[in-house]
Amino acid sequence: MKVLITGGTGYIGSHTIIDLINAGFEVISVDNYINSDGSALQGIEKITGKKIKNYNIDLRDKEKTKIIFSENPDIEGIIHFAALKAVGESVEKPLLYFDNNINSLLNILDNSVKNNIKYFVFSSSCTVYGSPDKLPVDENTPVKDAESPYGRTKQISEQICKDVLQNTNIKAIMLRYFNPAGAHESAFLGESPALPPLNLVPIITETAIGKRKSMQVFGDDYDTRDGSAIRDYIHVMDLADAHTKALQYLIKNTNAPGYDFFNLGIGQGVTVLEAINAFEKVTGQKLNYSISKRRPGDIPAIYADYTKAKKMLNWNPKRNIEDIMLTAWEWEKVRNIQ
Ligand code: NAD
Ligand code: WQD
Repeated sequence: MKVLITGGTGYIGSHTIIDLINAGFEVISVDNYINSDGSALQGIEKITGKKIKNYNIDLRDKEKTKIIFSENPDIEGIIHFAALKAVGESVEKPLLYFDNNINSLLNILDNSVKNNIKYFVFSSSCTVYGSPDKLPVDENTPVKDAESPYGRTKQISEQICKDVLQNTNIKAIMLRYFNPAGAHESAFLGESPALPPLNLVPIITETAIGKRKSMQVFGDDYDTRDGSAIRDYIHVMDLADAHTKALQYLIKNTNAPGYDFFNLGIGQGVTVLEAINAFEKVTGQKLNYSISKRRPGDIPAIYADYTKAKKMLNWNPKRNIEDIMLTAWEWEKVRNIQ
């Protein structure tokens, strides 16, 4: 089956391509390199031996997007990763985020409907839950007012998918990722964003390698076991596997609901200080960090209840924070010399 990956040269999209190829899917990608370069395609080729075609097209461009479908009338599934994702930037440039993330989605949905696509998987986020009242967070946890324009694009996008796809034959799954991190075990593929990373794990590896002099732990006065904030870090290859399983579930279960959503995390909260300790333990590196005040907009704690994905998608994450740190570090060491 041919699957179109939007955002296929980005971080999660490129790792998912590896897993899809290993599962026997044929893959093409569309990505305008706004937050990536071609290096992920080389990594994919080294790992799988397959050259992936990427259409360098902005998904807001209606005319150019049509070309992908006219040249590939056999696309049956779409995984829509393409979006801008920097929370802080979305606060400064809300119009850019609504324009890019919403108009790309509308255009890809329009093409999905017109081209009889059967399966549609969307990259959502735990950010739709805001700061939850109860932990762990399952899919019945109420969606709260978004804390950023980025978060709002995810909430609106889920609603749009539901409204648009309910009167079609397209079956859709929204995957709500918690905190994706880590790299492919081969160290041929990892995170290579065009913009400087803002997430904890790449900041840790960049500090250890010397690209940053030091790093800060944002707050040690939260009501948590060591005072630092708690997140659910999910290895990118476990996340990739969940996308393959979501597609396989839709293909196999002809009576699956037309619209569904799943949490993807490992179900364990890890504090920032525990994450740093895990990095130091598995790599033997000493990290130069200091404690600073809380980062505005951060929530104290969130982690997933992923029982629904386990039961229905038969998905079980296999890797933990130590695997994340080790693979992210191996990638950091080689990424600039490849
Ligand atoms: P990424 O930036 O590495 O990948 C997204 C890709 O989409 C990039 O390569 C970018 O060039 C491309 N893109 C963006 N806008 C485009 C457009 N208009 N046309 C064509 N290509 C476009 O990000 P990622 O971490 O791989 O995230 C993938 C998806 O998962 C995003 O939708 C993101 O919001 C979501 N998500 C990410 C995280 C995370 O922490 N990484 C967490 C939850 C959800
Ligand atoms: C993790 C923890 C920081 C950097 C973001 C988005 C969310 C989702 C995932 C897309 C927090 C702390 C970080 C540093 C630190 N993305 N930290 N020092 O904020 O949980 O989630 O990415 O959907 O929507 O908001 O991830 O990796 O930025 O932070 O102490 O230099 O690490 O305060 O507690 P976050 P993160």
